[in-house]
Amino acid sequence: MAQKRSLLVDFPKIVRAAKDRFQLDLKGIHGVSHWQRVRENGHRIAKRTGVEPDLVDLFAYMHDCCREDDLSDLGHGERAAEFVQTLRGSLFDLEEDTFQVLFEAIRDHELGMISGNIVKSTCWDADRLDLGRVMIRPNTKFLGTEFAKRPDTIEWAYRRSLAT
Ligand SMILES: [Fe+2]
Repeated sequence: MAQKRSLLVDFPKIVRAAKDRFQLDLKGIHGVSHWQRVRENGHRIAKRTGVEPDLVDLFAYMHDCCREDDLSDLGHGERAAEFVQTLRGSLFDLEEDTFQVLFEAIRDHELGMISGNIVKSTCWDADRLDLGRVMIRPNTKFLGTEFAKRPDTIEWAYRRSLAT
């Protein structure tokens, strides 16, 4: 019997929607290569946390796509959460409770919080492990999952993001 999946994501269309919505340089520090690394980080973490990889994909490609600048741009998380809501039902399908968690993960990712919710922790850690691209070494104080906090994980992610 096929495993029941909680969501269906049209990933190529999600990527297209993120690129079309993005107003900044797609090759910049919050552009496509960042989204790809967040996705890969998230999948690595999700293998340990059990989070649905499609949720990681949605977070990775949506969380920064409504930025208006490459600085802190407070409010870009909320804009992105509202944008992803407009794609629900066409580019992906998700049960209400799960969608609400994704919505909050995207909306609040900019606030530097730690969450007890494993979906939020997985997504936020995936993003924060990519700070090497702006010369910041990820700090365990701002990581929520045990896998992301591991010195070898941080070192791998840091070196990889520095090299971009
Ligand atoms: Fe990000």
